Amino acid sequence: MVAQVQGYKNGKINIILQDRSKTETHSVQSIDSSPFKHIDHEFASFVGMKTLKKSIKEVYANYLINEKRKDMGLRDSKQVLHMLFKGNPGTGKTTVARKLAKIYYDMNILSKGHFIEAERADLVGEYIGQTAQKTRAIIQKAMGGILFIDEAYSLARGGEKDFGKEAIDTIVKHMEDNHDDFVLILAGYPYEMDRFLTFNPGLESRFPFILDFDDYEVGQLMEIAHRMADEREYKLSREAEWELRNHLFKKLNEKTRNFSNARYVRNVIERAIRLQAVRLLSQSSYTNKDLVLLTGSDLQLE
Ligand SMILES: Nc1ncnc2c1ncn2[C@@H]1O[C@H](COP(=O)(O)OP(=O)(O)OP(=O)(O)O)[C@@H](O)[C@H]1O
Ligand SMILES: [Mg+2]
Repeated sequence: MVAQVQGYKNGKINIILQDRSKTETHSVQSIDSSPFKHIDHEFASFVGMKTLKKSIKEVYANYLINEKRKDMGLRDSKQVLHMLFKGNPGTGKTTVARKLAKIYYDMNILSKGHFIEAERADLVGEYIGQTAQKTRAIIQKAMGGILFIDEAYSLARGGEKDFGKEAIDTIVKHMEDNHDDFVLILAGYPYEMDRFLTFNPGLESRFPFILDFDDYEVGQLMEIAHRMADEREYKLSREAEWELRNHLFKKLNEKTRNFSNARYVRNVIERAIRLQAVRLLSQSSYTNKDLVLLTGSDLQLE
């Protein structure tokens, strides 16, 4: 049996599947139409993240075609979906991982779509044998969903004799055995993640998806600020917008390693909302428009 993409027409991909005896043409939706709309919709509130969205569409395309192939009696090839996320604070790693649990559930790729977040203390025990047991228990709990291990390098903290190594070995064994209905995501800051992968050769190649969450530029941070304000039904005044933009330029120029990207912006907006409330209550009157507007004085940028 041979599968061949014949071409695109009216937003559909025509695929020819040739059997010994017959030729059938299957029409399926193309990447920019229907099945992928759900993915675009789920990621609509995220600024940027192009590579991520593209990867998820590929996963879904693979899943849909695999289902078709199964119907045709062709070999069923399961996808390995484990991921590595590298990015500085506040670049969206945890938020995206949570979202993926939902999306994969909606796509029928994960049976439960729950999200389990674990850190070193959840996996590593205090005596021999305890770590493997603890780690296995967490993996068991995460079956059907996503297991998200933040600051994954903390597992390698104590070197060869540390029980963290046992956790890594247990995870590696299980990610090979159980890749059908389970997605493992290891996340952390880029430099530390790269070091961790260097000291654990063989680990990186087990992750088909390695995603870099880049620091945001000023334009993106401003877009995130506007979206965050919109979601809460607030607007930035022109003066506030101008002040925030200048402030962010300054912040990014300082290149402080712990600048927390979109989380920083979220904190600024949330604090401005509180300060606006205090300002309005201190006035003798305010209009409906005032209730929505965040002014420069509400931002209090340092
Ligand atoms: N691209 C984006 N568009 C809109 N909002 C974003 C984006 N990236 C991050 N955010 C928001 O920024 C906040 C921080 O994101 P999140 O906690 O996922 O970052 P993180 O990478 O996990 O950070 P840390 O490394 O500190 O754990 C969240 O409120 C999230 O919704
Ligand atoms: Mg996080």
